[in-house]
Amino acid sequence: MEMTMAHSPTQSDYLPGFGHDWLLPLYDPFSRLTGIGKYHQQLLDQAGIAPGERVLEIGCGTGNLLLRAAAAEPAAKFTGLDPDPRALKRAGKKAARKRLAVELDHGFAQQLPYSTASFTRVLSAFMLHHLPVAAKSEALAEVRRVLEPRGTLHVMDIAGHTHHARGWFARRSHRSAYVQDQLGDGVPDRLREAGFTDVRVVAQRDTRLGHIAFFEARAS
Ligand SMILES: C[S@@+](CC[C@H](N)C(=O)[O-])C[C@H]1O[C@@H](n2cnc3c(N)ncnc32)[C@H](O)[C@@H]1O
Repeated sequence: MEMTMAHSPTQSDYLPGFGHDWLLPLYDPFSRLTGIGKYHQQLLDQAGIAPGERVLEIGCGTGNLLLRAAAAEPAAKFTGLDPDPRALKRAGKKAARKRLAVELDHGFAQQLPYSTASFTRVLSAFMLHHLPVAAKSEALAEVRRVLEPRGTLHVMDIAGHTHHARGWFARRSHRSAYVQDQLGDGVPDRLREAGFTDVRVVAQRDTRLGHIAFFEARAS
């Protein structure tokens, strides 16, 4: 039986960007090498963030998506949240270097430290597969709470419909239990269960990282 009872995550209760703290320095080089930037850009093209919007990224890690978004639309307000203090520190240094004003907060997607209806958009890139099943549902319920009515969530993750994974890394990703429940209709089903409407699979592509899917959903 699946446990659905909410629990308070503790500081060590999360899976870091590259699985282990000591691998964090490799995260950005890996990201560049595997061309993750183009998937980030595809998610931003999908979101179409306009001036004046209030945007949250859950699981912002070292800030690659958040800073790309802030550079593209300086007239919107950007907040990134992550439980990993080391990743946040790197994101902060990069923001300062690029002179981009973003807010970086320490916290967990399952317990967002924001008031109801604080954001017009929420972004999530390669983050959901870091959460166990019950925590995914808690996180999506929290995202819905902090989105204003009609606000939208834009998710990109290893997910969706696929019959094969291309290459060693992709096969390894697909074997993970946290990814398994995102394959098929896992993510759209979970979004609807959390009360989102207009749930759409915007695009899917086979990559060396695994089968990546882009989703959009509306807080009604
Ligand atoms: C693969 S990294 C992705 C980082 C960034 N979104 C990107 O696309 O480069 C996953 C991130 O999710 C964060 N994470 C893990 N558990 C989390 C949770 N419960 N709430 C929010 N973020 C979490 C990790 O610390 C890590 O920074």
